[in-house]
Amino acid sequence: PPNRTPQTDPFTLSAWVLSQQHLTAPNAKGRLTVLLNAITVGCKFVASAVRKAGLAGNDVLGMAGSSNVQGEDQKKLDLVANEVFKNVLARTGQCAVLVTEEEEEPIFIRPEQRGEYCVVFDPLDGSSNIDCGVSIGTIFGIYKVAPGSEGSLADVLRPGRDMVAAGYCMYGSMTYLMLSTGRGVSGFTLDPSLGEFVATHRDLVMPPRGSIYSINEGNAAMWDAATSAYVAEKKRPPGGGKPYSLRYVGSMVADVHRTLLYGGVFLYPADAKNTKGKLRLLYEGYPMAYLIEQAGGRAIDERCERLLLREPEDIHDRAPVYLGSCEDVDDIERHYKEQG
Ligand code: AHG
Ligand code: MN
Ligand code: MN
Ligand code: MN
Repeated sequence: PPNRTPQTDPFTLSAWVLSQQHLTAPNAKGRLTVLLNAITVGCKFVASAVRKAGLAGNDVLGMAGSSNVQGEDQKKLDLVANEVFKNVLARTGQCAVLVTEEEEEPIFIRPEQRGEYCVVFDPLDGSSNIDCGVSIGTIFGIYKVAPGSEGSLADVLRPGRDMVAAGYCMYGSMTYLMLSTGRGVSGFTLDPSLGEFVATHRDLVMPPRGSIYSINEGNAAMWDAATSAYVAEKKRPPGGGKPYSLRYVGSMVADVHRTLLYGGVFLYPADAKNTKGKLRLLYEGYPMAYLIEQAGGRAIDERCERLLLREPEDIHDRAPVYLGSCEDVDDIERHYKEQG
């Protein structure tokens, strides 16, 4: 066997991106590589801030005293992460438009710094988990502007299938970065001693069926009939089969990460209170749907259509999200069809 053990072959994320680009676009000038590299720098910065949070000289815990366009109270770390990603992205010279959860309007990069990519991102996902040390993350998706465009709203108001790359970083017991540039999903783990993301999950394929469902069960009284029937079936399988386990972190990154690795489903349906669901399409729904599909799973909306095909009307649009192992998502679809 070739002498390529992880111990002696630290395959870094940058090397991986370059190798992918070689496969997909031999004439590429490495611009996407530069952009992805900047994102990893932002992720390392946030990972480092999270590791030291609450200690002397690192005042990133608690509320910022402001709120975002969705009416959520912002945490200090939401704003720190937002600034970090805006700065590292703008400086690459590869971006035309940025969309972030924390800002109402898209950010149009000035001509001297402008490039041809648009990055939509959730700088800090799982804000409610920051102060208690539970896993949080960063989610991002990348579009290329239309030919000749200098960067416009239309370049980011596009369905997720148009993305050229998507990924997330999870600040958990390990710092993971999962990434797709449209040819499968690969996963990297931050080696703190090297300061590098090293490939640990090559060509990730998720299980066709899992044994976990993940949903905020506190909303059960407000669910629609299909969601209620589906969850009831997972708890009390007809014929007395083994029930599914419930796991719900409350950070989409962590709940999706577990779903990618172990299989099962993650759902955030519309309900009587969140009539369009809670998760934001551009920087939560699409990137995760992209990764799940690239890993062989399925991601749909309440009409049982591919989430990646849904058209956004606003950069902060929300949508119901059902994603995970193919057979599990098929079960959800069956319930929607049965309920009419
Ligand atoms: P964010 O912290 O970026 O605002 O995202 C929170 C999202 C997502 O991470 C998670 O899946 C969901 O909110 C949890 O919502 P509930 O607290 O309503 O369960
Ligand atoms: Mn938020
Ligand atoms: Mn989020
Ligand atoms: Mn967020």
